[in-house]
Amino acid sequence: MEVKSKINPTVIAIFGGTGDLARRKLIPALYNLFLDNWLHDKFLIICLGTSIPDRDAMVKQLKEGVDKFSRRGKSKKAQWEKFAKSIEYLRGDFTQKKLYGQLNKTISTFFKGENHVNKTFYLAVPPKFFGPIADLLGEAGFAADREHTRLVVEKPFGTDLETAKALNQKLQLIFDEKQIYRIDHYLGKETVQNILAFRFANALFEPIWNHNYISSVQITVAEKLGVEDRGGYYETSGALRDMIQNHVMQLVCLIAMEPPVSFEADEVRNKKADVLHAIRKINSDEVHDFAVRGQYSEGWLEGDKVKGYRSEKNVAPDSSTETFAAMKFHIDNWRWSNVPFYVRSGKRMSQSISAITIEFKHVPHQSFPAEASENWQTNLLVINIQPDMGIRLRMQSKRPGPQMFLTPVDMVFDYQDHFNGTTPEAYETLLQDVIEGDPTLFMRSDQVEAAWEIVMPILDFWQANGSVNFPNYDGGTYGPESAESLIAKDGNKWMTFPLNKKSHEID
Ligand code: BG6
Repeated sequence: MEVKSKINPTVIAIFGGTGDLARRKLIPALYNLFLDNWLHDKFLIICLGTSIPDRDAMVKQLKEGVDKFSRRGKSKKAQWEKFAKSIEYLRGDFTQKKLYGQLNKTISTFFKGENHVNKTFYLAVPPKFFGPIADLLGEAGFAADREHTRLVVEKPFGTDLETAKALNQKLQLIFDEKQIYRIDHYLGKETVQNILAFRFANALFEPIWNHNYISSVQITVAEKLGVEDRGGYYETSGALRDMIQNHVMQLVCLIAMEPPVSFEADEVRNKKADVLHAIRKINSDEVHDFAVRGQYSEGWLEGDKVKGYRSEKNVAPDSSTETFAAMKFHIDNWRWSNVPFYVRSGKRMSQSISAITIEFKHVPHQSFPAEASENWQTNLLVINIQPDMGIRLRMQSKRPGPQMFLTPVDMVFDYQDHFNGTTPEAYETLLQDVIEGDPTLFMRSDQVEAAWEIVMPILDFWQANGSVNFPNYDGGTYGPESAESLIAKDGNKWMTFPLNKKSHEID
């Protein structure tokens, strides 16, 4: 395979390089790209921040992060030392011009004599800094090289449609749209990218991937974790903003999009944007019928007592922030006519699981007698994003024995069993794509805005009508009762996931 990222010398400047994201995700990802020989020999990582006194202390902290969070485990001394030589620290205020002068000097000194240097400016900072940093990068002349300079913006991209639009306008005044990489780390996950391979590299599924054969689609993104130490941020967000507007909607796009003509970035992104535009808008007077919210109270998780959301650090004791959200919607196009999509995401659930379930329609005529088919089920296709990674197709089989008796069995593709070695982390894929200038897995401005448009009526309604019954689910359970009724009204049920257990496989 061509190693494109090696074409040009590379600098990655991380604003917020002393923070948690850099330590847990970005530096481990860059370290693995370095070990896998994806980075140009001449690369420089510049961490910008204020909280660490000097370079040595910062490199020490980054090493601890790599040892703890890298998929390869603890780093090896010689490899780490070689990598660490390419790390610089610039300590200073992101809102002061001076820092950008230093940045310029550091880059030009390191890359003296090089004509084309790929420059990535990564905003791993609170959103209030996005605008000011972009301004100062622009003033310092960094945005001018449209071909080689990229700006990476972490989520949250806005807190609603208006703020997202304003941020888009702001950034586009300084950078070209093609220089702006809006991250949704779900799109870097192997299993998420595999949805494209599964759907469009196999002849088998496309003919049945529509309303003629599919009765419903469900997406569950559940986490056992609570809000941990992110209460301050989460209070301004909630599950709908934090997970549904971005990660879950991106999964919906991949499942529902039309086949792209090619894998050119804009072709794929156009097809995804089409899905978002086709999602039927929910009116404010119908929010009750299409969305439910929940908040966890204290409970038990795997034998441990867990706190309620309102007792978490930096959370108001009467908070009406939702830690669970579920939504039902329709996609108004030929392919998905009358197929309900159900999505849900929550914290402090009984299980950590991200999975997409496609439920197929009944057979047109049931030829088997009732005694043979009492265990009969519709076909299901489950795409497991995490922690199990793989695809499972549930079908009916004859149970061995003298009588005809149908029983559900699964055909399974399991990443771990099939591919040796660890799979790259989402941030490895995404950082490499930025360095190479491939925006396919990043969100374009219109996609972000279209995703906000879908959730806005719900956010507005919830904002205007504080929840009266919070908390309404126990930590360590599967969310509020109302989520069950949301879909039970259509005669459907949320999937539970013993489906992942090997016991369902053909033996
Ligand atoms: C982040 C959310 O975007 O995604 C977090 O802000 C959430 O609240 C996280 O925990 C989940 O990501 P992953 O990769 O662990 O599924």
